[in-house]
Amino acid sequence: MNNHHQVVLVTGASSGIGQAVAQTMAKNGYIVYGTSRRAAYETVENGGVRYVMVPMTLEDEASVKNAVDYVLQRHGRIDVLVNNAGLGTAGAIEETTAEEAFLQFNAGYFGIIRVLNHVLPHMREAKSGTVINIGSVSSYFPVPFQGVYSNMKAAVFSLTAVLRFELKPFGVNVCAVEPGNTRTNIIKSRIYAEKTAHTAYRQPLERALTTVNSNIYSYGPEKCAKVVLKMAKKKNPPARVTVGFEYKLIHAVSRFVPWCVVEHFIRKVYLYKSPQKGTTWTFDGQFKNSK
Ligand SMILES: NC(=O)c1ccc[n+]([C@@H]2O[C@H](COP(=O)([O-])OP(=O)(O)OC[C@H]3O[C@@H](n4cnc5c(N)ncnc54)[C@H](OP(=O)(O)O)[C@@H]3O)[C@@H](O)[C@H]2O)c1
Repeated sequence: MNNHHQVVLVTGASSGIGQAVAQTMAKNGYIVYGTSRRAAYETVENGGVRYVMVPMTLEDEASVKNAVDYVLQRHGRIDVLVNNAGLGTAGAIEETTAEEAFLQFNAGYFGIIRVLNHVLPHMREAKSGTVINIGSVSSYFPVPFQGVYSNMKAAVFSLTAVLRFELKPFGVNVCAVEPGNTRTNIIKSRIYAEKTAHTAYRQPLERALTTVNSNIYSYGPEKCAKVVLKMAKKKNPPARVTVGFEYKLIHAVSRFVPWCVVEHFIRKVYLYKSPQKGTTWTFDGQFKNSK
């Protein structure tokens, strides 16, 4: 697809995957708008390219509307929407309150709904456009003690699947790009369930988060950005695409084996391994590297 002067809105472009997507898309000739809760309509220069950062808070309907309207008023259209912004939560399900679970869904799921409510009418009328939802491999490999996050990403994939049915007649593409561990700020900004500070699940939780935090099989955010660019250019992007060879392979194999095998694999990766010496994570409401 010719991307000359196509307009892209990338939510959560102040760091990590969103920043890499904004940079990559701008480098490839797209007109890029990124969002951040702290933005002030400033033009930023990053990696030799420029794009505009617009304020948007996913939980705030008016702020989402204002950000989308800002782009539409300038260009009359949004050709590619990348629903990337989000945060991570952690804690055993038993120790997570419904209110804490709602925080995760309010940003990561309802936030996407809020953005879609304002962008889709324009894509539908234009009979074109691409929506890329940044999901996660945890949508199909749920991670213990990141349960609500995994549940939310499963919902994001399901949302993507439904949107594809509803929007295809209007010429709008929808695709989920699902990265695995990616080196970003997501660990730093992770929100822990309050009871995690005095958890009854201390050892398995510590083991699971040590694996997640240890960046095994992790990529830089540019890897995901390249996949997003590829999907944005495709005439018919697939419903979901996994980022990274290892994750692609594990996902492919998991489709041909019984769930108990997948379960064993997840247990082995997240629950059997003790934290390495010097890299344990200690509780005081948050995890900290003890080194
Ligand atoms: N890193 C990974 O291992 C990984 C793996 C799979 C999927 N993902 C997904 O990738 C996406 C990006 O995460 P990341 O890893 O790049 O994390 P990140 O570096 O922490 O970036 C998160 C971005 O989202 C924005 N954001 C966070 N909460 C927001 C809110 N409530 N309202 C508006 N904006 C908000 C942040 O902007 P401000 O703080 O400036 O507002 C920031 O730009 C997320 O959907 C995440 O679930 C990440």
